[in-house]
This record gives sequence, structure tokens and C-alpha cells, in this order.
Amino acid sequence: MEGQLSAIAQENLTGVRVVRAFGRENYERQRFEQKNNEYTGLWDYLMHLLSLFWATGDALSGLQNLIILIVGAHLCLNGHISVGNYIAFLSYSAMIAGPVRQLGRVISGMSRAGVSIERIQYILNSEPEREIEDSTAITLDGDIVFDHVTFKYSEDDEQPVLNNVSFTCKAGKVTGILGSTGSGKSTLMYLLCRLYDLPQGSGEIRIGGHRLNTITRESVRNQIGIVLQEPYLFSRTLSDNIAIARMSSSDNDVRRAAQVAVLDDAVSHFVKGYDTFVGERGVTLSGGQKQRTAIAQTILRNTPVMILDDSLSAVDTETDARIRHEMDRLETNATRILISHRITTLMHADHIVVLDQGKVIDEGTHEDLIKKNGLYKKIYDLQSPEAI
Ligand SMILES: Nc1ncnc2c1ncn2[C@@H]1O[C@H](COP(=O)(O)OP(=O)(O)OP(=O)(O)O)[C@@H](O)[C@H]1O
Ligand SMILES: [Mg+2]
Repeated sequence: MEGQLSAIAQENLTGVRVVRAFGRENYERQRFEQKNNEYTGLWDYLMHLLSLFWATGDALSGLQNLIILIVGAHLCLNGHISVGNYIAFLSYSAMIAGPVRQLGRVISGMSRAGVSIERIQYILNSEPEREIEDSTAITLDGDIVFDHVTFKYSEDDEQPVLNNVSFTCKAGKVTGILGSTGSGKSTLMYLLCRLYDLPQGSGEIRIGGHRLNTITRESVRNQIGIVLQEPYLFSRTLSDNIAIARMSSSDNDVRRAAQVAVLDDAVSHFVKGYDTFVGERGVTLSGGQKQRTAIAQTILRNTPVMILDDSLSAVDTETDARIRHEMDRLETNATRILISHRITTLMHADHIVVLDQGKVIDEGTHEDLIKKNGLYKKIYDLQSPEAI
């Protein structure tokens, strides 16, 4: 109950814009009030029960003392027991009453702790990520090969999210992946970063000839820089947010990375520049600025593999082109993977893979794909300036 109440409060505070935009303030207030009232009611009831319990307890133990006092005194006067025994019994019984009552408290505390322990155990019992025995750390500078990859998030799913996907991202080159929403592009990248592992017999992913599951997760994740589709920023300054990518980076490195991500123009308009505080979850930045901050992070990391998962979707086509141009000028041999819905983002890639409903339906260079007159050409025609 307490958990539900704080969840509602937290959702409403973080989603305050959505609540306002949809004019749902009253509904949300009522929802909170209703839960709050239920919660207050439960506390009331609990306090009522507790007061009854403790009062009865007190009365009973008082009564017990009274009986001992009277009966004991009677026995003592009649000579059945000695005065010494009587006093000893009286003090022992007073001494034992406290701990016995304490036991009641401990038992009720234990039942509450039991509930918390269940939640903690759920986390403690989750399977830790395991490495197979002879896994090694290698430099990821070879070709990335997806070889007949088939993948489902859950055994119960009927249709696999990826169905027999095979293609190669050449080392040091730019590979573009185009596909409609839900076609499995991000899933491919999650598999590449080993956020999920391919089960046995579902194909394999190789980097430089090494099977991905024989390369340690640490080495994979340290060397693949991925700009996530929904970047997450911390409530710190802009430069701190970029510098998070590499602890030892200087101010100059941060600025250089921001320049490549075409973020410097925007920053120069901020009064505090790179010291601008990025609000909770980055609300003070526009969508495109957030994406560019995330790109700057990845550029700063300067990893041998860089992935931009739909990371240019919120910037205009001109900025998109400038960022790609700046990245091309970087002195790096990084293998790059660009994922997008927008053909202009991908058309200059060395190789383009077209994904549809978890299958590779075409691949080649922009020119090859245009000639083939398939889905790529159809999307190209829809997105070309004449069509708009
Ligand atoms: N964590 C998950 N658990 C279960 N199913 C998932 C999960 N993530 C994605 N899916 C499903 O897998 C399919 C492919 O999702 P994915 O995110 O890879 O698509 P995408 O091509 O990146 O789409 P978009 O262009 O919208 O980002 C979708 O049908 C989605 O519902
Ligand atoms: Mg995606």
C-alpha cells in the first residue's frame, strides 16, 4: 500500500507534463486522494487494533500482578510459603512480564520483515550473468557477423522477433540498418552488446571470428559505444553528463566531443554554457539536444564499435548531415552501425541492411537498393523531397 502510494506520487511528479498536457490534474489528484484515504484508513484500523491489544495486555499483566500479590500474601500469612520465597516469586514474575510482552512485538515485526524479505529475495535469487569458462577479453576490431540469428524474448512468443537474420558489418566501415518500427533493429543491437544472450542453436554472432558468447561481457560493453534510442541523462551539469562516458576526460575532450555531435552551437546559447544544470531526467534539454548529448558521450568514449540507434531522429536533416560529416572526419577506425527510419541518414553508409518483421529482406549500397525497386526504393520515394 505504501509502495502503491509512493509509485503514484512519483509517476505524477516525473510525468507532470503529460498530466498537464492531457488536463488530467483532477483525475490524478482524485486517484491519489483515494489511495491516500485508503492508506490513512488502514493506519487508523491498525492503530485501533494495536491500542486495543496493548491496553488489554497492560490490563492483564496488571491483573496477574494483583492476583500474585493477594494470593501470595495469603499463602505467606498462612505459613505455606516463606516471606523470602514470596518476595522472590513476586520479583521474578515482574521480571518475566516485560520480555514476554516484548516477544509479542518481535513476532509482529517478524511478519512484516517477512514481506520485505520476499522482495529482497526476488532480487537475490535472480540469475546472475554468467560467463562461459574459456571466455576471453579481445579487441573488437574485426568484422561483426550475424549468422542465422533467430531470437525470441520469451519462450511463449509465437513469432520470433528476429528470424534467421544474417549479415556482416565490415570492420572500420559504416553499416546502415533500415527497418520499420518493431522490425527488430534495437533487438539486434541488444544482442550485440550481450544484454541478451542467444540460446544454443539459434545462430551466432561473431566479432573478428570470435563467437560473441566467448568474449567477456565486460570487454564487449567497454568496447561497444551505443547511443540508446531513449538516452538517459543524469541531474548534473551538461559537461558532467558528457564526461560520464570517460572518467579521465578533460574539459577540452568534452568540448571536442560536443563539437562533433554539433552540440556546441546550442550550448553557446545557454547562459551557463557547459555548466548548465540538466534537470531531472534531462527535462531542460530538447529531444534533439538530449540525443546529441548522448552522441557526444559515445564520441568521447571513442570505442572500436559505435552504434547510433535511431539517435538522429529528433534532429533536423541538416544537423543530421553535419553530425555524420563530423563523425566521418574523426580519426578513428571504428566500425559504425547507424540505425534509422530516415533514408538520408543511411544512404551514404558503405552497406545498408533492410529489415522487415525480423527478417533481412534486402542489402547492398544505396545505389544497389534503388535499382532493385524493392521496399528500400519505396521508402526512398516516399521520403524524397518531391514526395514531400
Ligand atoms: N524487452 C522486451 N521484451 C519483450 N519484447 C520486446 C522487448 N523489446 C522489444 N520487444 C519486441 O520486439 C520487437 C522488436 O522490437 P525492437 O525494439 O527491436 O524494434 P525496432 O526495430 O528497434 O523498432 P523501433 O524502430 O520502433 O525502435 C517488437 O515487437 C517489440 O514489441
Ligand atoms: Mg528501436
